[in-house]
Amino acid sequence: MIAAERAYGQTRLGRIADIMLTGKHILLIISGGIAAYKSLDLIRRLREQGATITPVMTRAAEQFVTPLSVAALSGSKLYRDLFDLTDEAEMGHIQLSRSADLILVAPATGDLMARMAQGRADDLASTLLLATDTPVVIAPAMNVRMWDHPATQRNIKTLTDDGIAMLGPNEGDMACGEYGPGRMVEPMEIVQAVKRHFDSGPLVGRRIIITSGPTHEPIDPVRYIANRSSGAQGSALAEALSAKGAEVVFVTGPAEHAHPAGAQVVMVETAQQMLEAVQSALPADAAIFAAAVADWRIDDASDRKLKKTRDGLPALTFTENPDILATIAKSKNRPLLVVGFAAETDNVLAHAKAKRERKACDWIVANDVSPETGIMGGSENAVTLISEEGSETWPRMTKREVAKRIADRVAQALAE
Ligand code: C5P
Repeated sequence: MIAAERAYGQTRLGRIADIMLTGKHILLIISGGIAAYKSLDLIRRLREQGATITPVMTRAAEQFVTPLSVAALSGSKLYRDLFDLTDEAEMGHIQLSRSADLILVAPATGDLMARMAQGRADDLASTLLLATDTPVVIAPAMNVRMWDHPATQRNIKTLTDDGIAMLGPNEGDMACGEYGPGRMVEPMEIVQAVKRHFDSGPLVGRRIIITSGPTHEPIDPVRYIANRSSGAQGSALAEALSAKGAEVVFVTGPAEHAHPAGAQVVMVETAQQMLEAVQSALPADAAIFAAAVADWRIDDASDRKLKKTRDGLPALTFTENPDILATIAKSKNRPLLVVGFAAETDNVLAHAKAKRERKACDWIVANDVSPETGIMGGSENAVTLISEEGSETWPRMTKREVAKRIADRVAQALAE
């Protein structure tokens, strides 16, 4: 089985309508209160729903639950230290704080809430919370007097004004023997709230396939033909569409850009594998073909490394790759909206318009990738959107901004 099928098989195992958190990545910060024991169940429940959990523990949390239990239950690396050089090499604090779709703090102690309200960054948890631009949901847990204290009430107001969502606390008997508000909400209530958080946006219930990155076409087991696509535009599109609530299947060749948060990622190498992965991801409401697919592959790639010989240079013969965009656009389970990209170096508009008709797609996003534009491999793009109605040239902007604009248009088109 090819890598793509394996990866896709895994994500399809329990598909998907009832497993609502598939592809969602949650950074779970556990701070030090007795309610930390409930976080272990929370991790299990969130994972049952398909979420990926990256856990972070404060020093105090380690007094209540063991790092080993947290790491084992979440099935992922546990982050604990602000000044951990290994962590810094693997994933910096800034990236860690932004790689998730949601940051969940459960339990959130009075102390951590106070530090958040002040904008402090004196341990890993508070630093991540200060560095992030990801939505944050907190589930406070503390003694009832601490909850009622004017200082905590001030902090709650500050945090709410800062846009942080708060779950609970519930009222009830407390571990310390008192009664009142201060109990952390139950794990299943948190799971329901997390689901509600993701169940919003104009593309909820829409499934969108994106191809991205280059393809690698083997010459022999160690050599291949590739291109300079970084995958940046495709990743940005996946994130912009996920942020609008779409269920995104991201089929990517071996790209250097980080995979998008919030999408189901299917990794492939060759154009043929990419076509198969897209076909097995159908049906979908829309498909956006941002990959730079090799037009040709080596006809009879060698399964042994080609050697230098005295008989001269190896002769490589090429054969044509399938055109994934055209194949899907002309297939009987064609998505409602099919979008192609046209990377050109000359006569951009004329070529792109012809391509739209030839490949039977609804829109073409055309761009000039001449070396002097710095677009191929860069962070900006200058595009013209071509549809049946005509063409529209957008000013040069970042690939993330281009992605957001395209996502707006996709949402409009699918709403019509
Ligand atoms: O023909 P050209 O490669 O310029 O077409 C670009 C568009 O077609 C892009 O959307 C690209 O992802 C798609 N394409 C494809 N399969 C190919 C070649 C291009 O899906 N074999």
